[in-house]
Amino acid sequence: MNYQEYITWLLDDPKERDDFFEHLGKPLKKSISLINHRLTEKEFIALAKEYQRVLSKSTVNPDASSWYIDRENQDVPLWNHWLHQCGFFYMQELAAGLPASIIRPKKGALVLDMCAAPWGKTSQLATYLLEESDPGLVIANDIQYKRLISLQTNINRVWCYNTAVTKINGYSFGKAVPELFDHVLLDAPCSWEGTSFRWNAATKFWKENDVKKIANIQYQLLVSALKSCKVWGTIVYSTCTINHLENEGNIQRILSEYPGILEVQNIDVSWVETGIHKYQDKTIIDKEIAQKCIRCWPHHQHTGWFFVTHLIKKKPLRWYHEKIHANYNSQFHYWPWVQKEVKKYLKESFGIETNSNHFFVSTKDTIYVTTPKIVDILAFLRCEKVGIPILKKTRDSFRPLHWLATTLGNLAEQNIIELNTKQVQQYTQGELLEVKDITEQNSTWTYPYRILFHQWLAVSISKIIDKKLKNKFIRVG
Ligand SMILES: C[S@@+](CC[C@H](N)C(=O)[O-])C[C@H]1O[C@@H](n2cnc3c(N)ncnc32)[C@H](O)[C@@H]1O
Repeated sequence: MNYQEYITWLLDDPKERDDFFEHLGKPLKKSISLINHRLTEKEFIALAKEYQRVLSKSTVNPDASSWYIDRENQDVPLWNHWLHQCGFFYMQELAAGLPASIIRPKKGALVLDMCAAPWGKTSQLATYLLEESDPGLVIANDIQYKRLISLQTNINRVWCYNTAVTKINGYSFGKAVPELFDHVLLDAPCSWEGTSFRWNAATKFWKENDVKKIANIQYQLLVSALKSCKVWGTIVYSTCTINHLENEGNIQRILSEYPGILEVQNIDVSWVETGIHKYQDKTIIDKEIAQKCIRCWPHHQHTGWFFVTHLIKKKPLRWYHEKIHANYNSQFHYWPWVQKEVKKYLKESFGIETNSNHFFVSTKDTIYVTTPKIVDILAFLRCEKVGIPILKKTRDSFRPLHWLATTLGNLAEQNIIELNTKQVQQYTQGELLEVKDITEQNSTWTYPYRILFHQWLAVSISKIIDKKLKNKFIRVG
């Protein structure tokens, strides 16, 4: 069966079918999500206005957490804008925001994002937690090395220090760390149908048998998600496809193979549609359960295609492996002296007072800031990266990195420089700025590093050399 035939069975009204195919190749409106633990929506809209950028809510889904942003203003391309380069927002398709918003983890939660690259949902989960009094920890995992690099770069850009990155086959979590996580997000690798608004290869070469193989991979990952989730924890399963094999089919399979363990939850989102329960007159899943799953269709919601199910684990499984206490992470140290020395340096150099949510981890040459929950993870999982790199070690002290400013810079009280609107854009585009044009605050001239602010936001770090600000900005894209 090819894709045309599949859809002919799925949508039996010819008018609706035409509408669906007409929408396949249509580009979606550009939308963004805010990193709003340091910037409220109101403040962001005001800043965007300064740059003649207009934000609007979708009329189809006004309660989605993302905003449409106009495409017309091309003075500074969106990705190059300082607000983007400094990690105050990221581009995210409207429906792609659904899975993490359904989890919306609370205070102190330990969350596994099993298939996290390139990153959008990880930052959304981490941002929710950073709004809480205890920022917990998000484990961002992916199996592909190349995609893992963009995952790490992006996490640094949005300074979500309550994250750690792992490169583990998703199948292994269930065995390696049973019942560890409060929430597991499985945004599963899929047949890429939902990317057909960008290119049509996915639907052109769609074959039912290939999709069945992918559905089987997703199912194995879902079983691992179930095993690694705590009792009364939640699992969100999502794909960006609309065929039933990868969606309702997998939910039905796990419910029947693990009877009484999982319960499908209602999802309180008004603008989406429910799952389907029949295909070609065959029942895929119980009608009541299908109504608790959600779908976004390209020709109805005018968003990316999405399927999401919210599951709660009600009982433990009968048998688990013991968690293996492994010495995988000998490169990461968190001795008391690391905490003491880093705190002392931050206080003396920039007047930064950290709090009990900040925890410092040292490698041979770098200091990272993360949260104390990392200790539990380092005991069981091999980590590629923890938190955000903030300092390089030198022979007798430390050298600050750009991300120190974006992650902890807002707590700084001395050695601060204020940039104006033009200067902040110039600096984030890699230019050198002259110190005489710039407003200094509480500075000690013997110490050459400065945290750069624009308005009330710390944006980078710089070293003064020959009355110029050495550009230490780390750009992305
Ligand atoms: C749909 S994408 C995830 C998108 C991501 N959640 C985001 O919001 O940016 C699926 C990801 O699953 C990863 N993947 C595929 N098989 C995997 C496995 N066995 N274990 C872990 N990750 C896997 C792929 O490398 C891919 O990055």
